[in-house]
Amino acid sequence: MVRLLTLDAVPSVIELSAAAGWNQTPEDWSRMIRLEPEGCFCIERDGRVVATATLLCFGAELAWIGMVLTHRDYQRRGFARRLMSAAVDTARGRGVRSVKLDATDQGHALYESFGFVDEQPIERWRREPRPAEPEPAATGPVPHALDREACGVDRSRFIDALPGPVRACDEAYALTRPGARANYAGPIVARHPRDADRLLASLLDDGAWYLDLLPSNQAARIIASEHGFAPVRHLTRMRLGQPIQTRDDYVFGIAGFEAG
Ligand SMILES: CC(C)(COP(=O)(O)OP(=O)(O)OC[C@H]1O[C@@H](n2cnc3c(N)ncnc32)[C@H](O)[C@@H]1OP(=O)(O)O)[C@@H](O)C(=O)NCCC(=O)NCCS
Repeated sequence: MVRLLTLDAVPSVIELSAAAGWNQTPEDWSRMIRLEPEGCFCIERDGRVVATATLLCFGAELAWIGMVLTHRDYQRRGFARRLMSAAVDTARGRGVRSVKLDATDQGHALYESFGFVDEQPIERWRREPRPAEPEPAATGPVPHALDREACGVDRSRFIDALPGPVRACDEAYALTRPGARANYAGPIVARHPRDADRLLASLLDDGAWYLDLLPSNQAARIIASEHGFAPVRHLTRMRLGQPIQTRDDYVFGIAGFEAG
């Protein structure tokens, strides 16, 4: 009953995620399916997708579970549990050493029952539309070595699939992408807070924006507030398996709840 999600199901999946108020676009879902054709799962009922979960692997070091969602009318029937089993089994089958996810309060008990433990809080911040004059910034390639230092794993396959342009220097980079409800700022990775600040100033236009950050990085919270963001949702980053050495003080915006 669990089947692989395919590109032709994207319109059905978008109905599901839009009904839940999620920010994902058809491009976000399509990118995930293209990157992980054997790692995106769904359950269908009555000719439409009613539940999903995705697994994004970063080599054998880390896999990220995301898009865990069950349509309101089909909840409490064990669908998310079955999809989580498919994702966790796939990660184990690939010999992945650590699996992580960003849990909502609704999903937390489910993940605990699979053995996931809390790692740290994570927050979604939002900036309402307001007049803005983005400052110019240099563009360039993603400094993948810096990203690896920050996140502890090689994310280049995923990062390179995100839409550009990349605002970048040796010590920092930032990406943005459109969202269904607001533009998304992230990932933003910088060795020095001043670079993260400068990159954020270069990308914020007068639309609505989301930014997801680790509140343990106090500088990230300060910069987000100075740019008009405020926290709107609180989630918990959870882990199954071995801890990974990260530099959270370099992370000023994550890549997304579905990717870490
Ligand atoms: C979280 C969610 C995916 C669970 O989906 P589901 O298909 O209803 O889950 P299942 O039926 O497989 O239930 C599995 C377990 O989840 C927990 N759970 C499910 N719904 C819950 C709820 N409304 N409140 C508290 N716990 C809940 C229970 O521990 C349940 O175990 P049980 O079967 O022993 O009662 C669903 O509520 C949802 O889509 N919520 C909105 C999106 C979201 O928050 N997703 C999680 C992103 S990290």
